[in-house]
Amino acid sequence: MKVIIAENYQDASKKMADVIEKVVREKPDCTLGLATGSSPVGMYQELARRCKEEGLDFSKIHTVNLDEYVGLEPTHNQSYRYFMDSNLFDHINIDKANTYVAKGIGDVDANLKEFNELLDKTEIEIQVLGVGPDGHLAFNEPGPVLIDGAHKEILDESTIDANARFFANRDEVPRYAVTMGMGNIMRAKALIMIINGNKKDAATKLLMSDRIDPMCPATFMRMHRDATVVIEKKLAEEIGYIQ
Ligand code: GLP
Repeated sequence: MKVIIAENYQDASKKMADVIEKVVREKPDCTLGLATGSSPVGMYQELARRCKEEGLDFSKIHTVNLDEYVGLEPTHNQSYRYFMDSNLFDHINIDKANTYVAKGIGDVDANLKEFNELLDKTEIEIQVLGVGPDGHLAFNEPGPVLIDGAHKEILDESTIDANARFFANRDEVPRYAVTMGMGNIMRAKALIMIINGNKKDAATKLLMSDRIDPMCPATFMRMHRDATVVIEKKLAEEIGYIQ
């Protein structure tokens, strides 16, 4: 696993954008796996800037997102479809018909069937990842067993707590999500994770131990042949990864 130390969040966002830019320039019609959460926002801003100012071309790029809340309309301002449109797709020259965020409303089984069918026929060139404070990847919550394909998850109380900051109050946070499974994530050709802020526990388990721990799904990154972790210097120091 390759580890890149970033000076700060802005630097981490640029370094993430550098990796994605290289993929987009080398394979302008590939599929990117994308993530939501606050961590990749700076990278999306940087990619949008490079598209506008430096001609980084997304016109033939396809994307698929990790997950979506169950019960939120795509127009809800906390849905992940809305997040992707407002943080990235509205600011780059991508054809939105080529972007896929799983449906959060309607029949869950039918939505998962569609999501799994798409994933089965899609080769993800690189998958962007954040990490939950409890070590979750996408919405694969810690547990004794992890799931291969796209499925519905019951969100952990700690995830509801962590994501409550985006909603008017905690009661509004959806209790369920549809998410890529661990297998879908691991089958991406490359993985890139940004880990910053208050992710001390997950960062320690990921970088300071060689245990593959289903109670910290982020540790599965270690098994991937082409995985990169971008970590802020301050956090890397806090966990003792660097002096
Ligand atoms: C949500 C998403 C995850 C994301 C996590 C961390 O739970 N489903 O994919 O990694 O949030 O979010 P943040 O980047 O805001 O810390």
